[in-house]
Amino acid sequence: MFSTQTAGRPASEPSYSAGVEEICERVSSKSYLYLPGESVGELLRRRDANALQDWETFRDSWGDMPLDGYMADGGRYRRRRHATLSAPRADNRYRIEPHQPHYQTVDYNTLNGGIARHYEPFEDSVLRGATMSSLLTLGCDLFGRLAPYSPWHIEAHQFRIEVSGVEAGQEVGKPTPEGVHRDGVTFVMMLMVKRSNTVNGESTIYNLEKNPLEKFLLADELDMAIVNDERVFHGVSPIEQLDSGEPAVRDVLVITYRHKP
Ligand SMILES: [Fe+2]
Repeated sequence: MFSTQTAGRPASEPSYSAGVEEICERVSSKSYLYLPGESVGELLRRRDANALQDWETFRDSWGDMPLDGYMADGGRYRRRRHATLSAPRADNRYRIEPHQPHYQTVDYNTLNGGIARHYEPFEDSVLRGATMSSLLTLGCDLFGRLAPYSPWHIEAHQFRIEVSGVEAGQEVGKPTPEGVHRDGVTFVMMLMVKRSNTVNGESTIYNLEKNPLEKFLLADELDMAIVNDERVFHGVSPIEQLDSGEPAVRDVLVITYRHKP
């Protein structure tokens, strides 16, 4: 497993490829995986020491996002941006596709599915920046190994869930307003970007009978969950404010990879 080390790296240090391989083995056996942020950061830096050099710009871009105007429950607690990309099979040279609407069938999203939803694009500097590039490349490397014959339709979503309190008419914010669900893709990568003044927001993975398998909290920056969306459901519990004097904020990046026919 360690024969693919980067030239010049001491023999005792595991390579990026070895880390990717280990994650693939774990995702393959369990159909999902929680990875602490420290491990994610360390893995990304194994491939490129500057992998996260624009992290602060990347993180701060969540502070400037339009409201999601398609919330069928009338909720005004979600902000988002969207990007579409693609990748050839078993190849991490992904490409950015022209901006297009996001579409889920009602089978996968009974609340907001069934219509083309137009969201504002990612800021170009964020989409083309080091952090985003590293994460997209990691996804291609992981899922290209797990499903080597599949080209990918890739969608990236910046999500902010924000709760400002009773006076603003927002006491809770639902990270997954559609409830326990699958995204209707092949693999999903979820990354914690920032969480502040927030209680709850716990992620739960369910089997195909919707029985819970495991709960975890994406709490710290770079904490990551990977799911095989064909084999497990997922959901995230509503968030509330810790201190009622300040908004609760949960900023997450979601990247989905779907088999492209
Ligand atoms: Fe989801």
